Order: sequence, then C-alpha cells, then structure tokens
Amino acid sequence: MNDMKNAGTVATIPSDAEVTARVEALLGRMSLEEKVGQLAQISGADFMPGPKAEEIIRKRGAGSVLWLNDTKKFNELQKIAVEESPSGIPLLFALDVIHGYRTIFPVPLAMASSWDPAVAEQAQTIAAKEARAAGLHWTFGPMLDIARDARWGRIVEGAGEDPYLGAAMAAAQVRGFQGNDLADPERVVACAKHFAGYGAADGGRDYDPVFLSEAQLRNVYFPPFQAAVNAGVATFMSAYMDLNNVPASGNRWLLRDVLRGEFGFAGFVVSDAIAVGNLVVQGHARDGRDAALRSLKAGLNMDMASSVYLENLADLVNEGLLSMAEIDEMVRPILSLKVRMGLFEHPYVDETLLEKVVALPEHRQAARVAAQRSMVLLRNEGGLLPLPKTLKNVAVIGPLADSMEATEGSWMVFGHKPAAVTVLQGIRAKLPEASVTYAPGPEIRKDIPSFFDEVIFSEAQKPIQTPEAAEAAFQTAVETARGADVVIMVLGENANMAGEFASRGSLDLPGRQEELLKAVVALGKPVVLVLLNGRPLSINWAAEHVPAILEAWEPGTEGGNAVADILFGEVNPGGKLPVCFPRSGSHAPLYYARTLTHQPEDHPQYRSRYWDSPTTPLYPFGFGLSYTTFSITNLNVSASQVKIGESVTVTADVTNTGKVAGDEVVQLYIHQKWGSDSRPMRELKGFKRVPLNPGETKTVTFNLGADELRYWSTNAGRWLQDAAAFDIWVGADSLATLHADLEVVN
Ligand code: GLC
Repeated sequence: MNDMKNAGTVATIPSDAEVTARVEALLGRMSLEEKVGQLAQISGADFMPGPKAEEIIRKRGAGSVLWLNDTKKFNELQKIAVEESPSGIPLLFALDVIHGYRTIFPVPLAMASSWDPAVAEQAQTIAAKEARAAGLHWTFGPMLDIARDARWGRIVEGAGEDPYLGAAMAAAQVRGFQGNDLADPERVVACAKHFAGYGAADGGRDYDPVFLSEAQLRNVYFPPFQAAVNAGVATFMSAYMDLNNVPASGNRWLLRDVLRGEFGFAGFVVSDAIAVGNLVVQGHARDGRDAALRSLKAGLNMDMASSVYLENLADLVNEGLLSMAEIDEMVRPILSLKVRMGLFEHPYVDETLLEKVVALPEHRQAARVAAQRSMVLLRNEGGLLPLPKTLKNVAVIGPLADSMEATEGSWMVFGHKPAAVTVLQGIRAKLPEASVTYAPGPEIRKDIPSFFDEVIFSEAQKPIQTPEAAEAAFQTAVETARGADVVIMVLGENANMAGEFASRGSLDLPGRQEELLKAVVALGKPVVLVLLNGRPLSINWAAEHVPAILEAWEPGTEGGNAVADILFGEVNPGGKLPVCFPRSGSHAPLYYARTLTHQPEDHPQYRSRYWDSPTTPLYPFGFGLSYTTFSITNLNVSASQVKIGESVTVTADVTNTGKVAGDEVVQLYIHQKWGSDSRPMRELKGFKRVPLNPGETKTVTFNLGADELRYWSTNAGRWLQDAAAFDIWVGADSLATLHADLEVVN
C-alpha cells in the first residue's frame, strides 16, 4: 500500500465558498442510501455483531470507522471506500486518543494539575502527530466533563471540578489536537465530549441519570464546551445519560438550541457508543426507527456503532417522516470536514511513517516534563523530600511500584501495550549505586470487574491471589522495608479502577494497602508515599502519619523517571489540585464553589455539617506544596468601584522566599456578595503558574470584567451582571486570604 497517495504537505486551505461548492456537488450526486452511509460510524472491531465494515463500505460508503488501530487495515478499508463504494467518499478513522497514542502523557486530570495549558497543548500536539502517522484522522477527545464527585470513574479523563480551569484546558487541548489548519497532516480532528453534564451522574455512578438546573449547566458544565467551540473544535459527542429525563443523544434543546443556536457550533455531533439505539433501552424511544427519528430531529449527525441510522433513515425519508433536506443538513458538515481535511486528495497513510514518528526523542522528553509539571506535593513534614542521592539502601514497596499499566493509567489507546518507566525503574535509574529493593505486597483488584476488564486490562486476566499468598506478600513487603534506610511506598489504584464503568462507592485505598502502609510506618523509618491514582483518594490516615506524600496521578510513559526527578530534587514540584480530596466517598459530591448557607463555615457556631466527621476536604481545590516557599503580597485593584460592563486590573506580587527555584500557581477568586441569585462563596477567575528563582519577585496581573463577573441567573432566566459588592482573593489555593473589595454599580 506504500505506493498510494499519502498524507502529503499541507494543501492550500480551500475557501468556504469552495468547500460549499464541493459539498453541494457531492450531495447532488449521492443517493439517499449513500447519504445515510455518511451518517454512520461503523465498528472496525470484530467484537460488534452485524455486517462487517468492508461490506457496508462497499455497498454505500460510511462516514467513519472506529475501534480499529491498524495502519495497514486503514488503507485497505480506505481503498474500498475511495475506489469501490458508489460515491468514493473517504472514511474518517477515529479512536480514543485521550492522553497519547504511543507516547503516553499524564492522564488529563494530571495535566490539569499542572495549571499550565501549554502542557496540555503540547501533549495533544504530540498525540495528534503520532495518531495521524498511524492513520487516524479523529480523536474522541478532549473529554470536558466537569466532575465534582470523585466516586465517578471518569473524573480521571477531565480537568476536575472547576469551569474556569476546565475551559482553559479545553481550549488548549483543541489547539493541540487540531492546530489551526484541518488539512495539516500532523493533526487530528478533536471531539468535545460528552455533551453535557455527564460528570454529575447520580451517586457518581457512571451512566446514571443527571439532574442539573439550567443555572448549573450554564454556569458550571457548559463553559469548557463553549471554550472548545471558541477554539474551533470540529466535532462534538453527545453523552450517554438522561439529562433531566431526556437522553443527551435525543435532546433537541441541548444539540440544536444550545450547541448550534447559542454556541454557534458549525461542525457535527457524533453519539456516544450505541447511544442512538439505546434510546430504546433508556425508555425514550419506542424502537430503533423511533430512536433514529428522534436523534436526527434532535440534531445528531452521526450514529456511533448502533446501526440504527443505517437501518431506518432511508425508510423514514421514503415514508415522509423525514425530508431529504433534513438528511442533507446532517450530512453537510461531515462532507465539509472531509473536504477541509484534504481527505479526497490524500486519503491514505504512509505505512512507514509511524515508527519514525514515535521514535522521536522529544516525544518522551515532553512526556517526562508533562509528568513532572503535573505532580502535586501534598505533604513534606520536616523537609523529608527531596531525598539525597547518596542514599545507599532504599526499599520500594507497593502493588503499583513496578506496574507499567498503573503508570500509564486509564484510557490508553485501543491495542496499546503499556511500556512505561515504572516508579521502581525510575528510582533504580536515579540511584545506580544504591541497593533498591522491591516488594509489591498484596495485589489489589476490583471486587466487580467490568466488561472493559475482560477486553482491555491485563490485571483482570491474572488469577486471583489467594489469601495465603497475599499474607505472604504482606510479610515479605514489611521485611523488605525493615531492611532499608528509607521506604518509598507506591500505592493507589490500578489503571482499571478509574475511567469508564469504573465508579466506586469508597475513596479509600483499595485492598490491604493502608494496612501495609501502617505496618511499614510502624517500623519507624522515613516513609515517602507516592500515589498512582485516577481520582482523589481519602488518604486520611496517611495525611496524618506519613511525612511526605507526592500525588503522581497516572503519569504516563515517563512517569517513573518524573517521580524520581522530583523525589531526588532534580525537579521542584509545582502542581496544584484541580479537584478537592474528600475525606470519604460518602461526602461526594464535594466542591469549593458552593453558595453560602445561613451558617457558613466561618460562623462562630459552625462545627461540621456531619456529626461524625469534618466536612472540609482533606486537601482543598488549588492546593499544592513546593520544596521552596512563596509569599503573595501587595494585592491591588485598579479601581474600588466600576460600572457594570467595565473592567478592573488586579495585581499581586509573588516572591520565592526559599532557597531553591520553583513555580507558584497564583490564583484569583471572587465572591459576589448579593444579587439576582446567591453566588458561590469562591469562584476561580484567573490563574498563572509563575517560575521564580530564590528571592525573586514577580507581579502577576489579572483582568476582571463582564466576562468574569456575569452569570446565568435562575431568578432572571438569563445572563446578567449584577451591581453588587465583591470579595477578591489572590493566593496559592482556594483558601486564599489576601483580600480586596470591589464595588460594581449601575
Ligand atoms: C465510550 C465512551 C466514549 C468513547 C466512545 C468510543 O463508551 O463513553 O468516551 O469515546 O465509547 O470509544
């Protein structure tokens, strides 16, 4: 296949008029069957029932193929589409490239912890380059769901609990994936998902119904999606679940009124997997035919893998229930994208390209830096960290310490074989002269494996460890620790414990990890805890008894090296939490941007909302420590009073008051004290990650104007900006105390 036309240099970008003319000409030549084919995304994997991809493509063409990761096969299917199908329209090949294709970057929740959009942009730029070299055109990312319930497994895939940080990460990832030219042969089409509100599933139970007010949707859950549209995202994906009793894939208000009507989105919407057919299962549609009609009318362009569009749309047109114009309206943006990507001119991929691209050293270096910048130092009592490189005898203990899968984390690409540098390997590479012993301790497993565990994760394929073997492993781990000068515990969750269909009721360390941690700490040696996990964990005991805790998340292919870089002081951690850590799963959902009650937490009588535990988070949103110290002073607001619609400039000085260079993330929060609606006691409205040498001071500047101060009011049923008084805080986390006042008047 190598002699085929392949992704060549970037063609001249066709004008909108040229694109329109080509699309209309194509539509004019296409039969109804062929148009319906473009509205279908068909499975390239053989785990799906029904006709094979080749058969469908040859008969009528198809919009896209997913769940295939085979460069040679891409070209084979493309050849059928281009040379044998009636209309010769090329296919879009799509896959979930969420945080890397072959070079795996930190999971998105980790990249959000960097509070550095450039980290996410570069990661997705490299992911796009590798994915495109493999023959993929379209990634089902970025995932933009705000998540305020750590029990929800897919919290790992997003940017955490805050819409302002989430919007910044959304735009950065779209830029990374798509660049600024859809015909660029080193980019892929992005897909803003899952529209919308998926992260608010009842009980954190993945796929469960979501009930959100319009104010919550518009003020919290929509902003990252709006940011993606503003950044030019070419596609959206509708979510699985019912949103206020209407499944997102059949939700006209969501897909037409909001997404097209208000956001001005001009691309196309693909459903989530089988979601159109599942309108029947969810009790919304009577049958597949009804489901197809409802989704099409609601503005859903492409049916992912349910075949309900393929089986019903032509009949619905022939029976007059749908018009050809309605079909054409859905097909146009799909054809338009294929024209803009230059797919008609360059439908094939050079099969020799991938191995050259993935071998580029700068890819792994970028992954290492991204992992370093994503990690969050949660505790460092007595300055135990950084550890000296002169150490001679270190024990590395825990079931994740040498797990490539846990290090690369959730949502690796279909068919990817984990190849991470594990924490154990990273430490051994850092201390080549030292004795670095290792013991995993008892294994950890899900109590109830999911479908994904059978087909994707190796952990579930292993035989279950017997209690006797677990006990022996426990004792071996304690004895291994006993023989060392310093112990590094690597605990948390396996890669399959967060992600899709991986919600859990508890946020505790799974298995006997905490028991092992306590036994090792009881030995009286210096203990460092490194967390590998895809969600906040209720590490209440560790937070009190383990002197040093590094949140490494799921750090990717270079994760072990990045952990060692930080533990031994070559890199000073500067990450901050994009989501708070609840003290218990039962406290979720828990988030900082809450409205005040009549007895707020600073009320003299306030103790706790629960009588059995504090309700404050173990670690607050925006929190993270450093090997140095910083001060944030001299907060200044350019005016103490402005009119509605006017802006102020907020400045503050940040100084490195310690002995080593480091980054501080300076954060700006507001609180509107009264207005049409009650407003959150704090809302992030600005952040900057600032590198500082010891003794250095920099001034950080933020702008506060209508964009930051307006909100959608339940009371008024519209967007507005109130005349009101505001608190302004600037600091190093969501508990910032440096305060100023602002008055907004009519
Ligand atoms: C999955 C996920 C979605 C993914 C799609 C295709 O079920 O919900 O995020 O992009 O199917 O793999």
